[in-house]
Amino acid sequence: MTGRIERIAALPAAAGQQVTVRGWVQHVRTQGKVGFLVLRDGTGVLQCVFVRNQLPPETWDLFTALTQEACVAVTGEVRLEPRAPGGAELGVTALALLGASGADYPIQPKEHGVDFLLDHRHLWLRSQRQVAIMRLRHELEQAIHDFFYARDFVRADTPILTAAIGERAGLFGTEYFDEGTAFLAQTGQLYGEALAAALGRIYTFGPTFRAEKSKTRRHLTEFWMIEPEMAFYDQGDNMQLQEELLLFLVERALERRRPELAILERDVSKLEAVKGPFPRIDYGDAVTTLQGKGSSITWGDDLGAEDEALLVADYATPIFVCNYPKEAKAFYMKENPADPRTVLCADCLAPEGYGEIIGGSQREDDHDKLLHRIREEGLPEAAYGWYLDLRKYGTFVHSGFGIGLERTIAWIGGIPHVREVIPFPRMMHRLTP
Ligand code: 4AD
Ligand code: MG
Repeated sequence: MTGRIERIAALPAAAGQQVTVRGWVQHVRTQGKVGFLVLRDGTGVLQCVFVRNQLPPETWDLFTALTQEACVAVTGEVRLEPRAPGGAELGVTALALLGASGADYPIQPKEHGVDFLLDHRHLWLRSQRQVAIMRLRHELEQAIHDFFYARDFVRADTPILTAAIGERAGLFGTEYFDEGTAFLAQTGQLYGEALAAALGRIYTFGPTFRAEKSKTRRHLTEFWMIEPEMAFYDQGDNMQLQEELLLFLVERALERRRPELAILERDVSKLEAVKGPFPRIDYGDAVTTLQGKGSSITWGDDLGAEDEALLVADYATPIFVCNYPKEAKAFYMKENPADPRTVLCADCLAPEGYGEIIGGSQREDDHDKLLHRIREEGLPEAAYGWYLDLRKYGTFVHSGFGIGLERTIAWIGGIPHVREVIPFPRMMHRLTP
């Protein structure tokens, strides 16, 4: 083997040079004395051209015996070829088999059912669509870090093993030495509030867990959430920040991930139409609108997935539904002084039927009101002692939100089900691979 080792994405800049590329065989075909190998290496796909009478017979034989997903090293001259995927092809002079692949590779270029594909997720991830989704995910994760870094937020990591605190959804528990049961974190928020009093503006970025028996296209039992928490932000400031973040993410995807969006067949005009300001709709008005559209919702209910879809159908941008009734939301949300039946909160709903992608609120900063809510909800008071301390020692106006990473990627990528946007999804009936 001769030739500098290159990755496929770098080849157009190496036109005319002799290089070696390593990767996996996507497919092979021969046309008389010419053969084509489509190779992928994670950065792109490359057409490698084999000409029989210009190669040693062993090389041709090795080529014709290749099976899908064999791992190979191919050496040759890079040629610019506008018709080839990626804009370059390789005129092959040498081939080495690095790792053979059984002829029974389970994923074939035909329709497979989604359960079959999920059972073979470890291999399914190699397909072009899945690679595009993972690159989009990576881009959006990086964009989130860039967004907060530029605003001088401190990234702060919160525990995954916790005492019984969090949201209302189901808890996963595990034995924890002599301390009883530890619960997998449903949210990092409460710790985020403690960190906001130390650092001013923080965000968490990590996995969260909910033992929800929901088999919907937007529920996972393990999902990633980003939870900013800001001292001295009221709920208005909080929504403003959410809007800026979502606009930033959409812009980033359009700026840097057009090829992936094209592979996903995303209608990018829908993303280009996303502009601020996002409508802010009062919960009461939303209920009236929904009833007008035939929903059976009544004042006091949380919005179901169908209600959310009905409501966003009128808009091309995300919308905020503001100030829900207390009983529909978590105990830590601040009572609305203008209408104490409600709390200062908002859910941000994505268009095109994607529904809630962000939940956020101003936090109850009054010690006694918070304690009252903890008791009202029948929560284990002892586990919340430290959280109440934050209201005893320098209580402060503060707000924050949680953005679901998978739901956000699904919306921006136009992917119908969240199970496809996380490498190894965890759902009610799926723990492997
Ligand atoms: O609305 P949620 O439950 O809010 C919280 O956890 C707050 N502690 C956030 C905060 O104020 N810091 O969850 C926030 C978001 C949802 O809007 C949704 O995008 C996502 O997390 N989410 C899920 N994503 C996938 N699967 C699930 N089971 C999810 N549950 C919530
Ligand atoms: Mg919510």
